[in-house]
Amino acid sequence: MSQSFSYKMIVNLSFCLSILLTLAACSDGTSTAVHDTKDSASNNFLWNIPSHIPLPAVNPANPMSEEKFLLGKHLFYDQRLSGNGSLSCSNCHQQDKAFTDGRSLAVGSTGQIHPRNSQSLTNVAYNPTLTWANNSLVTIEQQVFIPLFGEHPVEHGITSANWPEIVARLEAEPRYLKLFSEAFPDDATHFSQAQIENALAVFVRGLNSFDSAYDKHLAGDSSAFGASEQRGQALFFGEKMECFHCHGGYNFSDSTADRTMSFINRPFHNTGLYNISGSGRYPDNNRGIYELSGKLSDMGRFRAPSLRNVGVTAPYMHDGSVKALSDVIDIYAAGGRNIPTGDLAGDGRKNPNKDGFVTGFTISAQEKTDLIAFLESLTDQSFLTNPRFANPW
Ligand code: HEC
Ligand code: HEC
Repeated sequence: MSQSFSYKMIVNLSFCLSILLTLAACSDGTSTAVHDTKDSASNNFLWNIPSHIPLPAVNPANPMSEEKFLLGKHLFYDQRLSGNGSLSCSNCHQQDKAFTDGRSLAVGSTGQIHPRNSQSLTNVAYNPTLTWANNSLVTIEQQVFIPLFGEHPVEHGITSANWPEIVARLEAEPRYLKLFSEAFPDDATHFSQAQIENALAVFVRGLNSFDSAYDKHLAGDSSAFGASEQRGQALFFGEKMECFHCHGGYNFSDSTADRTMSFINRPFHNTGLYNISGSGRYPDNNRGIYELSGKLSDMGRFRAPSLRNVGVTAPYMHDGSVKALSDVIDIYAAGGRNIPTGDLAGDGRKNPNKDGFVTGFTISAQEKTDLIAFLESLTDQSFLTNPRFANPW
C-alpha cells in the first residue's frame, strides 16, 4: 500500500460521485456532461473534457483560444515550417497513431536519427514536465522550440539563416494572414517566432482524449468493455502487478498535473530496461534525467507515459526498443529486461537504480490476454479520427 494507491482511490471515488451527479446526461450511454465551454482562463476555448475530469492548467502568458488553436493546427500540418520544406510536426506525430509515428526512433528533416521514440500527444496538457526525461522543461511553449530549432538532433532544421525564407513561405500562403490576424488581433506584426510557438502550443494543449471504451464503461456503457477487460482492469490496479503506482489516476501516469492541484509531483522511474555490463548504465544517448542532474541514482529514470491510446502507439519505451504490449508485459513480469549479448548486454532485472515497484510476478496466458485487453480499452477512436485534430490543408 502506498500513497499512490490512496490517491487512485480518491480519484475513482470522486469520479463515481460525479458520475452519480451527471447520471442524467450519461443515462443513454452516449453523451457525458462536459465542462462549460466558457472557461474563464481560456477565452472561448472548447475543451470538450468531461466534467468529472479537472481542466488542465494553462499558461497565463499564452491564453487558450479557438483562433490560436486553428492557426496552430495549420502550422502543425505544414511542411513549409522546416528548413528544407520536407517535414512537419505531423510527420512524427500522426493522428491515427495517437500522434506517434510507428518508428522505433524519430527521423528529422535531414535524415538525422533522434535518440528517442516520438511521443504520443495524448493529453499533453496534463504533463507537468515535457519529453521522456526532462524535469526542467515545464511548458509546451518551451518544448516546441526544440523540434523547430534543435540541432542535436536536427528535426525541422530551422536556423537563423533560413528563418527569413521560412517566414516568406508562410507569408505567401493566402490562408495565413487571416489566421494570424484572428489569432493575435492585438499584435501589429504577424509571423513572429513567438506567435508560431504560442499557436502550436495551444493546438497541442487542446489535444484531449477521454472517450475510450474504458471511459464509456465508467459512464455506464460497457458494450466495448467485457469480462476480459474487467479482469485486466483488476490486474492493472492490483498489488500483484503494481502497474497503477506509476500509471494511475485519470491520465494513467503518476506524472499528471491539473489546475486543481496545489502540489505538483514530477516523478521519474527506472524500470530496469538496461544494466550495461552490470554497472547500472543505460546507453550513452539515453540515460534519463541523469543527463541533467549528473547523479548516478538518476541513471535510467524516465517519466511514466500516459497509457491512454497505448494500443496504437507501438513500438514502446523511450527508445522504441520494445515491439509489442505483450513484450512490455513480459519485461515487467520478469522484473526488468535481461539482454544476454551485444554492446548493450546486461541484466536489467538487477539494475541498482530500478524502482521498488518493478519486482516481477507470475502471469498466466489468460491474465496476459486480459491485461492487454484492458490496455487496448484505453484507445479513444474519436481522438484518432476527430476532424478537429486532423490535417486542415
Ligand atoms: C523528427 C520527429 C519529430 C518532429 C518533426 C516533431 N517531434 Fe515532437 N517529439 C518527437 C520526439 C522524439 C519526442 C520525445 C523527445 C525527447 O524525449 O527528447 C517528442 C516530444 C514532443 C512533445 C512532448 C510530449 C510529452 O508528452 O512530453 C511535444 C509537446 C511535441 N513533441 C510536440 C511537437 C510539435 C508541436 C512539433 C512541431 C513543431 C513536433 N513535436 C515535431 C519527435 C518529433
Ligand atoms: C515504477 C513505475 C512503473 C511501474 C510499476 C510500471 N510502469 Fe510502465 N512505465 C514506467 C516508465 C518510467 C515507463 C517508460 C520507461 C522507459 O521508456 O524507459 C513505462 C512504460 C510503459 C509502457 C510503454 C508506453 C509507451 O508509450 O511507450 C507500457 C505499455 C507500460 N509501461 C505498461 C505498464 C504495465 C502494464 C505495468 C504493470 C505490469 C507497468 N507499466 C508498471 C513506469 C512504470
